[in-house]
Amino acid sequence: MSFQSCTDIEENLYDTLSEQPTSLTDLELSRRTFVKTAGILGAAVATGIPHLASAEDMQAAAATTPQMLSVTLKVNGTSKSLSLDTRTSLLDALREHLLLTGSKKGCDHGQCGACTVLVDGRRVNSCLTLAVTADGAEITTIEGLAQGDTLHPVQAAFLEHDGFQCGYCTPGQICSAVALLKEHKHNTLSTVSFETGNTSNPELTDNEIRERMSGNICRCAAYPNIVAAVRAASKGATA
Ligand code: FES
Ligand code: FES
Repeated sequence: MSFQSCTDIEENLYDTLSEQPTSLTDLELSRRTFVKTAGILGAAVATGIPHLASAEDMQAAAATTPQMLSVTLKVNGTSKSLSLDTRTSLLDALREHLLLTGSKKGCDHGQCGACTVLVDGRRVNSCLTLAVTADGAEITTIEGLAQGDTLHPVQAAFLEHDGFQCGYCTPGQICSAVALLKEHKHNTLSTVSFETGNTSNPELTDNEIRERMSGNICRCAAYPNIVAAVRAASKGATA
C-alpha cells in the first residue's frame, strides 16, 4: 500500500481547484473530486495522521459501498421479491426483511447451527449463506414445516421427547434433523459409518445421530432427548 504525503494531497487539491471545467459534467466531477480530497485532508488533520491514504484506499472505501440487487426468495412456498445489499446473509434476509424470526442467530459464524434452514432440501447455515445465492431456490424454515395445525413428524418427536429446554437452538435442530433423515434415506454416509465399517445403508444408531447432528449445538445440553427425538422420528414413531 502506498501513501501520499500531506504536501502531495495539498498539491492535488490545488491542481483540482485550478482546473477550468469546460462543461457541466466536468464541473460536477471537479466538485466531487474536491469534496473527496478535502474530506480526506480534513480527516487527516483531525486525527493527526502524518501520511494520508492513497487512491487505493479510496477505491477500497468505495468497495464497501452497498451494492443492491433484486432477488426472489421462495420461502415456505411463497415467493418474495427483495432488493438486498449483496452482503446480506440469508439469515438476516429471513429475519430482518421477511420477519421470519424462527431461524435463530446464535453465533453468526457458522459454529452453532441455530440458523439452520433447508435450501433445495439441503441443510445450510443461513448465517454463512449470502441471500443472493439463494435466488430462486426453495427455502424451508421452521415456520414452513408444519402442514396447517399438523406438526411435521420431527417437530412432534421433539415435543414428545422434550428435545429442548430454552428452545433457542430448537428450530435449527429440527431443520437439521429433517435433512438428516432425508440424507440417511439416500444412503449418505457419516464419519461414524466409515469408522464402524457400515458403509452400505448404515443403521441410524445413536452414534450416527450424534455425529450427524454435531453441527447443532445446544447450550442447555438437551442432547439425550434430542437424540431420542431423532431416533423416534427415524422409526416413524413419536413415543
Ligand atoms: S448463527 Fe449460524 S451457525 Fe450460529
Ligand atoms: S434448548 Fe436451550 S440451547 Fe438448546
